[in-house]
Amino acid sequence: MPIKAIVFDAYGTLYDTNSIGPAIAADFPGHAELVTALWRSKQLEYSWLRTMMHRWEDFGIVTRESLRYALETVGLSTEPAILDRLVEAQNRLTPYPEAAQALDTLSGYRLAILSNGSQPMLDALVAQSGLGRYLHAVISVDPARAFKPDPRAYALVEQHLGVAPAETLFVTGNGFDTAGAGSFGFHVARVERITTDAIRQAVTEQPPGATAMFRALRMRLEAIGFAPEAVVTTLTELPAVAASI
Ligand code: LAC
Repeated sequence: MPIKAIVFDAYGTLYDTNSIGPAIAADFPGHAELVTALWRSKQLEYSWLRTMMHRWEDFGIVTRESLRYALETVGLSTEPAILDRLVEAQNRLTPYPEAAQALDTLSGYRLAILSNGSQPMLDALVAQSGLGRYLHAVISVDPARAFKPDPRAYALVEQHLGVAPAETLFVTGNGFDTAGAGSFGFHVARVERITTDAIRQAVTEQPPGATAMFRALRMRLEAIGFAPEAVVTTLTELPAVAASI
């Protein structure tokens, strides 16, 4: 069945989560790398914990709780004004450099985001980055009250777009999301921003840095099956992938 819709993860796929670094450095010079890695790791963990515990709260809350954890771990201030400022800075993440042009070349498909981000976070992110003009829908998992990789979150795509999983290509740079989307039944293209060889080299340095550990934990394919149908290094390769399915 040919592909009709291409659906993108947001954080780590269209938007570079490392671009939060300067905002962290402005408040905490010298701590951006460690806080970025701890924050993003805990943000994902808390989304999974809350889903499994049936204690769903939206990604804005998860983002704030995980930031507090990260700052406390390092011994940095968690005063509310700082939390507010850094959580808000998540709405100004930078898209990967090729994102806009790649979306433009895919205009023959129905294009959407499906993200764990709350609807207000995603709407702000898309508006600030200018990617909105390429997208038919910006879908938050909010109505499912469950975060990816829960199947209830992925099911929102068909509800919004009216396109079946077998006709949908899901694009993600996140290992957990690659496995989850494949398990759900989407065609999946993984964006490999860094190779396993490069991750291995960085993580075996003594001592490995926080970014290296983050990449080793979150930016590789998971070893639980559900391999993607395609692996691309940039979003510009997607037209060929979509046409080949
Ligand atoms: C997203 C994050 C979790 O869903 O990558 O956009």
